[in-house]
Amino acid sequence: MSQESLSNRITSLPASQTLAMAAKARELKQQGKDIIGLSLGEPDFNTPDFIKEAAIEAINQDYNSYTPVDGYADLKEAICGKFKRDNNITYQPNQIVVSTGAKQSIANVMQVLLNPGDEVLLPCPYWVSYSAIATLCEAKCVEIPSSIDTNFKITAEQLEAAITPKTKLILFNSPNNPSGTMYSEEEYLALAAVLEKYPNIYVMSDEIYEHINYDSKPFSFAAIPSMYDRTITVNGLAKAFAMTGWRIGFIGAPQWIAKACTKMQGQITSGTNCIAQRAAITAVSASPVKVQYMVDEFKNRRDIVIGLLSEIEGFKLNVPEGAFYVFPDISAFFGKTIKGKEIKTASDFSMLLLEEGNVATVTGDAFGAPNCIRISYAASELQLREAVKRIKEVLV
Ligand SMILES: Cc1ncc(COP(=O)(O)O)c(C=O)c1O
Repeated sequence: MSQESLSNRITSLPASQTLAMAAKARELKQQGKDIIGLSLGEPDFNTPDFIKEAAIEAINQDYNSYTPVDGYADLKEAICGKFKRDNNITYQPNQIVVSTGAKQSIANVMQVLLNPGDEVLLPCPYWVSYSAIATLCEAKCVEIPSSIDTNFKITAEQLEAAITPKTKLILFNSPNNPSGTMYSEEEYLALAAVLEKYPNIYVMSDEIYEHINYDSKPFSFAAIPSMYDRTITVNGLAKAFAMTGWRIGFIGAPQWIAKACTKMQGQITSGTNCIAQRAAITAVSASPVKVQYMVDEFKNRRDIVIGLLSEIEGFKLNVPEGAFYVFPDISAFFGKTIKGKEIKTASDFSMLLLEEGNVATVTGDAFGAPNCIRISYAASELQLREAVKRIKEVLV
């Protein structure tokens, strides 16, 4: 009886590097070190009161039974309203599936679409779990590289060059985790023009950061008429509503995909938590203006962090348009020895900042971008200023 009994499935699954870094930071904290954690993608705000009140009301109304697998009917109606209002996409309730977080939504979609050997296109940088979940489905991940010089965007030519007869799915994520990049309508139209030639390729558009945008408006891939029938739009409440622990995600999709996801979820988790779903009706029905105060604060922090980091020689920066991360290219440090430690990779660099500066970040390796590190600015201004000061002290 030992580890060897574990399945190939789990032993070949990489552990989430963002969670691993958070665990390492926690361990150092427990040893008494004063760590500033900038590794997690979690708003540092509380869930707004008007949403909490809806949950309390649901408890008092005795919502306690199993829920419909695909979500309460009135929540699905409200989500259709949200898609129309924010994204200019028309979905019917039978095209919606509510899940236990957007992560489950994504896992459902990949499990119902992918067969072993299918290829999944991942424009870099990409969220860590996309590749892990695709690998669980025994699909092959095909990275499409980008760099800070192109604002971390891929081109239509790159997309076309990556397509093979085995390509089944492409994942878009705008605003992007980890880079904060947003694709404009024109850029998405150019990518769609390529996909129009390949009718067997599906698109998953992860729009979970849509409300956290600063300089331009987000555009939804499914709003392109020729893409509607093959796009799955993923969204959730974790980020913009500061509801990470409530675990509400959802998709809008062609009905046959929604039906398959419901079947998958019905065998694995059943319907999502009843109280969180009741509160979700209030959250998705509310005007996004109600959470704008968080977005304004994130923008303020972004500007502070970019301003301070740009004073450090060797940090190459762009200005992210959304989400709450900066993703500097730190490859200028490769080959150097700092505080007796040789920096060969972004992981070495990230570890240096943790061990010598007590600042937790995440290596870009985790996101298919080996020249970068991710710094989350979902932390107080005071902490951010102190973190950059420490980083500077380690490097200068
Ligand atoms: C791009 C992206 N998609 C999906 C998720 C998962 O969201 P949820 O907490 O709703 O599962 C995250 C969370 O970090 C994310 O960054």
